[in-house]
Formats: sequence, structure tokens, C-alpha cells
Amino acid sequence: MQYPNRRTFLRQSSSLALASLLPSSLYQRVSFAKTVKAKVHVNFEQTIGKIEPEIYGQFIEYLGRAITGGVVDAKTNQVRKDVLEKIKRLQTPLLRFPGGTVTKIYHWQDGIGPKNLRPVRPNLIWGGEESNQFGTNEFIDYCRMLKTDPFLVVNMNTGTPEEASNWVEYCNGAGNTSFASLRKKHGYPQAHKVKYWGLGNEESAVPDTGSLQDPNKYVEIAWQYAKLMKLQDPNISLVLAGGDTKWNETLIKELHPIADYISLHYYANSKKGQPASLFAHIDTFEKEIVATKKQIHELAPEKVENFNRWYRFPARKKPLKIALDEWGIWENEGKGAYNLEVTYQWFHALGVAGFLNIFQRQADIVGMATWAQTVNVLAPIMTNEKESICQTVFYPLELYRKYCTGTSIATEVESSALEQSGAENLGILDTAASYDEDTKMLTLAVVNRHPTVAVETEIDFPVAKSLKIFEKHELTATSYTAANTLEKPSQNVVNYQHQNIDNSISSITLAPASITLLRFR
Ligand code: AHR
Repeated sequence: MQYPNRRTFLRQSSSLALASLLPSSLYQRVSFAKTVKAKVHVNFEQTIGKIEPEIYGQFIEYLGRAITGGVVDAKTNQVRKDVLEKIKRLQTPLLRFPGGTVTKIYHWQDGIGPKNLRPVRPNLIWGGEESNQFGTNEFIDYCRMLKTDPFLVVNMNTGTPEEASNWVEYCNGAGNTSFASLRKKHGYPQAHKVKYWGLGNEESAVPDTGSLQDPNKYVEIAWQYAKLMKLQDPNISLVLAGGDTKWNETLIKELHPIADYISLHYYANSKKGQPASLFAHIDTFEKEIVATKKQIHELAPEKVENFNRWYRFPARKKPLKIALDEWGIWENEGKGAYNLEVTYQWFHALGVAGFLNIFQRQADIVGMATWAQTVNVLAPIMTNEKESICQTVFYPLELYRKYCTGTSIATEVESSALEQSGAENLGILDTAASYDEDTKMLTLAVVNRHPTVAVETEIDFPVAKSLKIFEKHELTATSYTAANTLEKPSQNVVNYQHQNIDNSISSITLAPASITLLRFR
């Protein structure tokens, strides 16, 4: 089934008060101007696939204040503890680096060895200078502090297959070969064991520097990179730089035996003065994922047969999956170059929860996802010289990563239309569900995208009538457009409520513009 989250629109009713169906422990002593009804079915028997923990990844790039001024202090180049503590809260399992577009000019050897000998280079892609003080080993150290897996992207333009292969040797070589020995000399006796490697970034993008914009050219060069990198370490996983449908068709057909993922990048935005149009833009992404899944199923067999043993490394072992290795929200009104320092309002956080619902609904094909980016640039965390804050979008990232784990379960929604300009054909509610075998908990994620209307929601969960709502985690904010800013660093517009509930209930009221996780056991 392609859309496990089926939506049916109900006619909008407008009962004024909260229905008193709810047991007193759930009754929220808040009255909403308007309440409509909806129904969510949880189809417990219909499992979609494993939710890979790697869908909750992050990305950092040599871009503006993302690394220098974000990850590390701009003056001292020391890791910023305040930022580190915030990223830790995101429990990210994967961190992508060093780009992004910047990989097209990045030479990894600039960022190793004694810091005073590292060259300062112009950042030809994003402007400014790159001091290279935060290089490979600093990145790996950072990953270890975060308990996250590193994901490195190689330069396929001004770099060479050999340079990429040497990087694999430097990171993963355990013997006495020259690059492995160099790493040891730099103070790292143990191999870094970097598993994830990206073969370039957005290589189909014509305006970017480089010359691989023809998919056949990419295929030819990527084979050389893959061979030399896999000969260094046959256990690495490769991510192909995806593009549009045509581009992806060629890459999947020709490169699927040696790659584990093909990437899709997606930045959503809203139309001016129409916040809810953001949700429509995000909805389009699900269609793109579904279309790519279809291509993969048609062109890449689950198992690679007859892989020529003279390649001297094994073919991929698992079915090809999609890596959403850049996703996020890029509004045109951010500060700085290319509008990259975006202030996120509360409706953006609702959009992020929507994205995360999509990743769950498409768990059978989405193998990893890294939010672009992490600090200052299109980021959940913003800094100035002294302080840092969590933007609104931080909170759904933090919440989902904790609880939306295990196996994805299909849901169906009957709700009224959102009826906001720019969001035509969307329902008020957006849902996804997961069941975690370890905790034995089913988590239903529901986003009420309407800015002012509450939704009295009946939860239809026929298989397990005896299950009770055990926990309710709710994120709301003071308004649809409320934002956390560095101007008022101590003010948090986001409200998190957690209730433990014993009663067995069949209906719950979802506040306007809310993100709710209902956890059953
Ligand atoms: O995340 C910012 C930029 O957006 C990345 O460098 C690039 O890959 C994408 O276009």
C-alpha cells in the first residue's frame, strides 16, 4: 500500500465546548473557540516496516556560522558546551559532514595534522574563509561526544577517486599502511570505523561547480569512487547523490549493486502570508518518496545476484533504500547569505512533525534522514557569541526521536479539511504510528495543523480494546507564529505537557496547532 495514512474528509461541525466524553483525568480545563470531530484508526495488523533509527540524523557543513560560531567557538575553536548539550538532547544517531555543496571543493587533508599547519582556504561556495581547524578527527571526536555515527561525503569534483579512497584508509585502516599510520601519528590509534559515505552531493545541479551533471557521467565516475573506496573497506555503506526522476532512474539502474542508498533532498517553505501552505509543500515530498520507491522496486532487485567476484568486494547485502540526507525548512526570509539563518515559528514545528510522520509512514523505503542543518544554518539551535537557544522546530525533533521507534504501523484518518489558504486538499490531522517491541509501547503521533480549531478525536484501535492510554505528550505554543529568539533567550514559546493516564478512553481533544504523542501499552 502506498499511502498507509489514508485521509477522508468529514464535514466540519462547530460544537463550541469540549465534548464531555472524556474521563476527568483527560479533561483539559481549556476551552477552545471551535471544536470539530475526527477519527483515527490504528491498523495494528498492518505493519509498514522498521523505523530505522538513522532517520533521526543531523547534518553540519562548512557554511556560515554552522561550524565556526556554532559547533565551535569562533574565537577559540573549542567545542561550544552549550550547543553540545542541546544537540545531545536530540539523541541523533547519525551526523553528516562536511557538506553539502561545499564538498565540491573540500580536500580532507586540509583538515588533519597539527592545527597551526593547516591551510586557510577561501570558502568558494558559501563565502568567507575556512580555517580547517575542525577537520576529520575533530569531527569524529564530536560524534563520539554525541554518541552518534559519522557520515562523510566525498569530493567528486575537484577531488579524485584516489583521494576519497585515501580518506577511507585514513579513517578505517587498521594496519600499518601510510594513511592509517598517519591517523595513528595524529593521536588516533584505533580506526574510526566510519560506515556511511556519500558519493558526492547534488551532483545533478547544473549551476554548481563540477562536471558530473549528466547521469551517465556520474555513473562512470561513481563506479571508480565506489571501487577504490570499497577496496579499502568492503564494509562501508555508500549513498548515491540522487536528483530528479530521470537522473535517479539511471543511477538506480546502473549503480544499485554497489550502493545502499540513493539520496533525496527536500527543503519545504511557505507562501508569503500563508503559513499552512508549508504543509502542502511537505505533503508533496511524500509523493516524491513514493515515486522513488516505485522506481527502486522496478529497477533494483532486493538481492544482487551474480556480482562479478573480480570486483574483489561484495555487492550490497540489503535492499536499496532512500537516504533523505538533506531535509528541512528553508524560508526566503532568513537572515544572512542565501537566507540561511531562518527564525522558525511554531507552524514550522508542526511541519517538522509532519515530515517525521511521513518518514514513519514510508519506513519501508526511508533508510536514513539527516535534517539540514544543526546550528545557525536552517537550524534547530541558534547561537550568538554568548548564548544559544532551541528554536521551535527543536521540540518535535527531540520528542519523536525519543518515542517514535520500532515498527511503523498504518493509520487512517477521518477529519475535516484544514481550510487554510495554501493548504487545499489537506486534512486537519496528520498521523503516524509505531510499535516498539522493546518497550511494548504503541505510539500514535497526531498533529493538529489548524491554528485555532481543536479536534475531538476518536481513536479507533479495534485490535487492542483493552489497551489504555498510558502517556500523553503534548507540544503546543502561544500561537501559530510564535518563535524563540536570541533577543529573548530565556523566553520559550513552546509548552510541553506530559500526563500519565490510567483511564481507558476512546476520545481525546487535540488542542489547536498541537503535536501529540499518545502512548499505549
Ligand atoms: O543545506 C544547505 C545547502 O542546501 C547544501 O549545501 C546543499 O547540498 C543544499 O542545496
